[in-house]
Amino acid sequence: MKSLMKLFASLLLFVFSSLLFGDIDVVECSNQNLRFSGRNKLFVFGDSYADTGNTKTTDKGAWEFPYGITYPGKPSGRFSDGHISTDFLAKLLRIKLPVTYSKKDDVDKTRLQYGMSFAYGGTGVFDTKVNYPNMTGQINLFEQLLGNVYSPSDLSSSVALVSVAGNDYLYFLSTRSPAAILSFITQVVNQIEVNLRRIHSLGIKKIAVPSLQPLGYIPHFAKGSPLIKAAVNFLVGHHNNLLHEVVAKLNNETNHSAFTIIDYNNAFLTVINNKGEIPDILVFKTPSIECFQIDVNEFKNSTLCDDPRSAFFWDGLHPTQEGWKSVYTVLRKNITAALT
Ligand SMILES: *[C@@H]1O[C@H](CO)[C@@H](O)[C@H](O)[C@H]1NC(C)=O
Ligand SMILES: *[C@@H]1O[C@H](CO)[C@@H](O)[C@H](O)[C@H]1NC(C)=O
Ligand SMILES: *[C@@H]1O[C@H](CO)[C@@H](O)[C@H](O)[C@H]1NC(C)=O
Ligand SMILES: *[C@@H]1O[C@H](CO)[C@@H](O)[C@H](O)[C@H]1NC(C)=O
Ligand SMILES: *[C@@H]1O[C@H](CO)[C@@H](O)[C@H](O)[C@H]1NC(C)=O
Repeated sequence: MKSLMKLFASLLLFVFSSLLFGDIDVVECSNQNLRFSGRNKLFVFGDSYADTGNTKTTDKGAWEFPYGITYPGKPSGRFSDGHISTDFLAKLLRIKLPVTYSKKDDVDKTRLQYGMSFAYGGTGVFDTKVNYPNMTGQINLFEQLLGNVYSPSDLSSSVALVSVAGNDYLYFLSTRSPAAILSFITQVVNQIEVNLRRIHSLGIKKIAVPSLQPLGYIPHFAKGSPLIKAAVNFLVGHHNNLLHEVVAKLNNETNHSAFTIIDYNNAFLTVINNKGEIPDILVFKTPSIECFQIDVNEFKNSTLCDDPRSAFFWDGLHPTQEGWKSVYTVLRKNITAALT
């Protein structure tokens, strides 16, 4: 087993050769009924899978055409052609979209009542060499608003989405020996535990954490050999096993209904493997081929597919709006079941 892990670890060296931007998402796993309907604020921490516009407009990526072509018709800072996880989760919770932290001083104060997003594309729980706050820093920003912008009673009726982990692995494997990946996965999940505990202790009573999505199927990795895909999926499985243990432990220690895993891994796989047996969602014919194929040498040579709605992935790392919509359609049953 140890040597198998080592083999996987060394394969990863070839897999994680380049560092792109953002990533990750949400989950469910509490056996307790959730009462999201009575909740009125959403606070978001994490990376590009949840960032609805915190990065600087001078940054490339999410602020450049053709990002945002489906919604709102121009770049909005989302790492997709349109709506992403935060939009769909807010809708599911019947909460209006939380304002982004970077725009909080520019919007009508009444907008603050829906919560706030501190998620920045490219970040991780640890530093990933982007000029944006890691998760600890994001929670610091949130903490600074407590007492003046948000009161304890605001928080007790709120939900947190903690979108995390892919960038830590992308960054680690692009800079460090993959032989240490197993212990690094433990460090990442331990740091997630620290962050979840802190968000809870600051007063948010419902905290949703996504499992890591099946990295082997995202275009960035899917282009590799079956062994590479197996290696990355091994990483994902190990991360998610540890995450489930941590969430079970936290729920046992604190409050059985506080922490919820939103199973992105399962939902992504369900959508990717759907051949029509799930009527509510589209069949994506080539799910691991991204719509917007970025030419890293010459951006203007990048190519765009005819219809982003026919693609599951928007770029090498991020789902399209239609992809996210399908994922949330699959997840809705479980979340709805937990709500009622
Ligand atoms: C988060 O970022 C700060 C500032 O760069 C750094 O000092 C701190 O060590 C980071 N935290 C973690 C857990 O990596
Ligand atoms: C919860 O924690 C207690 C005390 O540590 C332990 O005895 C119990 O088995 C745990 N329950 C679960 C479901 O993990
Ligand atoms: C657990 O959650 C319930 C409902 O949110 C709350 O009333 C209770 O005080 C919480 N208990 C602890 C130990 O946090
Ligand atoms: C929904 O919950 C059931 C029961 O826990 C689980 O077996 C299933 O995998 C979940 N589906 C998704 C998409 O998370
Ligand atoms: C970009 O496309 C042009 C025209 O097709 C081609 O001549 C050029 O070599 C391409 N550049 C790169 C870096 O691939």
